[in-house]
Amino acid sequence: MGPMPAQSVSQEDTTCTLAPLRDDIERHLATLLGEAEQDQVSQAMRHSTLAPGKRVRPLLLLMAARELGAPTQPALDLACAVEMVHSASLVFDDLPCMDDAELRRGRPTTHRRYGEDIATLAAIALLTRAFSIVASTPGIDGDVKSRMVARLADAVGTQGLVKGQYKDLRDSTARSAGDIHTSNRLKTGVLFEATLDIAALLAGAKPSTRKQLASFADELGQAFQLCDDLLDDSPCQGKDVGKDQGKTTLVALLGKDAARRQLVAHLDQADVHLTAVFGEQGEISRFMRKLFEPVCTSSWTSHISSA
Ligand code: IPE
Ligand code: IPE
Ligand code: MG
Ligand code: MG
Repeated sequence: MGPMPAQSVSQEDTTCTLAPLRDDIERHLATLLGEAEQDQVSQAMRHSTLAPGKRVRPLLLLMAARELGAPTQPALDLACAVEMVHSASLVFDDLPCMDDAELRRGRPTTHRRYGEDIATLAAIALLTRAFSIVASTPGIDGDVKSRMVARLADAVGTQGLVKGQYKDLRDSTARSAGDIHTSNRLKTGVLFEATLDIAALLAGAKPSTRKQLASFADELGQAFQLCDDLLDDSPCQGKDVGKDQGKTTLVALLGKDAARRQLVAHLDQADVHLTAVFGEQGEISRFMRKLFEPVCTSSWTSHISSA
């Protein structure tokens, strides 16, 4: 299968069951980052967060929460909080001192539009807003909320996104496949893990379920980062083309074919963990298929199209 634009995920699923969830996310994000605040930092928070992202993390949280029987309204608050954390991480990632990117989600990056000072403040404000939402979401026990806050803090902190970003920026030459794997887990996998664990905590899921979901998130994180790296030279992603040049990614180290094979292996493993929790043909499995369609070989798509 030839490459397809990432936006096809959002276009295609408007005709399927995900469209209402996506609408809920868009509406609630817009409400939480409401127009009432007109200062530049608030505008920059909206510019980055309300831009057309794929919403993978909030969709996963809502789908998992729904399938695990968790209440809907708190799940929507938590989903938006996770998307704000992700959006903040993208604003930081694009800064000139990091990846120095010009385009994100089809728009000028936040620092290009508002300046580095405002972009930095907006990213900090998005992070703090996200934690404030988790800590104050109605309808969740205080004890559960504090576990969620701790979970999200761990995902961002020195053993999470921060460390992943550090390794990506400072340890990015002459890395082994194992080093890149670790860096990708920290950069991308840990936030997926926290996202799914927050859904599981909301649902009061048992430890064995949380463990399976953590393993699923780890495999998804690896696959997702491989997909992102494979699409680095695609002009359809709404972001700078060729930004990974000079970086040791798995694609640079192994070549595209081997990277694609690894991606498929991670997706197969991810599906094993998903099936253990939700059974076959679950909503998240279908979502995964659409999400990874752009980079998957026809053998993979035929393998899972029967699912
Ligand atoms: C981009 O994440 C950063 C990575 C972890 C690879 P997404 O691909 O989810 O970006 P958006 O949210 O759709 O813009
Ligand atoms: C971004 O990683 C990961 C973050 C958590 C910010 P990349 O730098 O590889 O992602 P893109 O390609 O800019 O979205
Ligand atoms: Mg980066
Ligand atoms: Mg980047």
